[in-house]
Amino acid sequence: MVTVRPRFLETHPAYAGTSALDDLRAAEYGRLDAQGIVYLDYTGGGLHGDSQVRDHAALLGQQVFGNPHSASPSSTAMTNAVEKARAAVLEYFNATGEYTAVFTLNASGALKLVGESYPFEPGGRLLLTVDNHNSVNGIREFARVKGAAVDYAPLTIPDLRIDRIATDALLAQADPARPNLFAFPAQSNFSGVKHPLALIDAAHGRGWQVLLDAAAFAPTNRLDLRAVSPDFVAVSFYKMFGYPTGVGCLLIRDTALATLQRPWFAGGTVNFATVQGRGHVLAPREAGFEDGTLNYLSIPAVEIGLRHLEHAGLGAIQTRIACLTDWLLTELQALRHGNGSPVVRLYGPSTCEDRGGTVTLNFYDPEGTLLDFRRIEELAGTKGISLRTGCFCNPGAGETAGDLTEDDMRAGLAEGSDITLPRFLQVMQQRGGKTLGAIRVSLGLASNIADVDRFLQFASEFRDQTPAAVGALTVDDANCRVIRDGS
Ligand SMILES: Cc1ncc(COP(=O)(O)O)c(C=O)c1O
Repeated sequence: MVTVRPRFLETHPAYAGTSALDDLRAAEYGRLDAQGIVYLDYTGGGLHGDSQVRDHAALLGQQVFGNPHSASPSSTAMTNAVEKARAAVLEYFNATGEYTAVFTLNASGALKLVGESYPFEPGGRLLLTVDNHNSVNGIREFARVKGAAVDYAPLTIPDLRIDRIATDALLAQADPARPNLFAFPAQSNFSGVKHPLALIDAAHGRGWQVLLDAAAFAPTNRLDLRAVSPDFVAVSFYKMFGYPTGVGCLLIRDTALATLQRPWFAGGTVNFATVQGRGHVLAPREAGFEDGTLNYLSIPAVEIGLRHLEHAGLGAIQTRIACLTDWLLTELQALRHGNGSPVVRLYGPSTCEDRGGTVTLNFYDPEGTLLDFRRIEELAGTKGISLRTGCFCNPGAGETAGDLTEDDMRAGLAEGSDITLPRFLQVMQQRGGKTLGAIRVSLGLASNIADVDRFLQFASEFRDQTPAAVGALTVDDANCRVIRDGS
């Protein structure tokens, strides 16, 4: 698509100002171009720069690290490195002195810590937005068991933004004397929508505590915890800078620390525990939440990753992603079959306003018949394009985008333990052809215009294609079961 690139540069002059990211890509992400890979799954996982792994390996090579929290030199060295990383995390989020940082396995681990420790009770409430990752949706099971009311704040159609009027009405239902928790994502992993952080203050004002899922937001946005003050924040570091996997963080506002009541204790979380006395005294602050042995060797790589992200510059990343996303949205919407019908249906906002670089879509034939997104993923793979398909662990956004009703979803649940996304698609075929699931293209730190052009070239190949020409899935539905919906 060499012919379109000058038009892109003309219409997006700010892109030229982000050329330092091209240099960074050449220096740190050379494997992408060396192998001709177009990586479009940054919302699934960020990519690491080569120097992150080199610097981490050098640190491990220089030091003798043992299990932290003992007095030996090797243990003390590790404790110091873990605490240095913790301080770097707090500083990065401008949270030093206001928040406690708890290292977890991932964002889901952070969310679960809140879910299992929150003092839900009859008369109290859990309010979730329909746009939420399953690791937030799952918190409703803790709330239910403890007798709290569970509600969902709806989304507007077709933009998939939080319906502010309905949400304000739901927030107004809280009894401020009871524990009430409102949980929403700062950025949607389904539609890329940036939800208003002003909801945090609005919820506080109505007697709610707020859990902000920043997993999809933090990789490309600065979260300043002195500008907004959610009570709990969850992130996964591999989403922010690719490496290390297996480390996430729960940031707990110090004023909210005492709210959480841990349902058990484990090695490392107690100051004192007795068998004969049948009692324990939980350790204060983060120590009371970090069960067992931390992923201690990986944690120093978090500090290296934060430096890498700072070096790349969030401002430049944001500018670049805004230009690329705008181009992607504009070109996809302009893509037409010979009879004038659209090739692509986008889910979520059709412009760049208040949204990030996550774009979700489906392809249709000239008669408006959906092309199987799983087949599209297969075909993309043959072109070296890595994207993601399915529901991205965000059923609420997918159900809203696909116009699915409670009855449709109950028909799926009626299948019992046999239900999977492929089986649900068959059930929907029998019920008149509605569908669930889509294709997600997401941009990140190392994305460039060539990546987007390669995807647009791929997309344009579906012009005037029938489902028969596109071909059937080469794996059958039974085999599809091994691919679980995720991220
Ligand atoms: C918005 C959002 N929240 C939570 C998660 C869960 O993250 P993890 O799988 O790292 O626990 C994800 C993962 O994709 C996400 O996108």
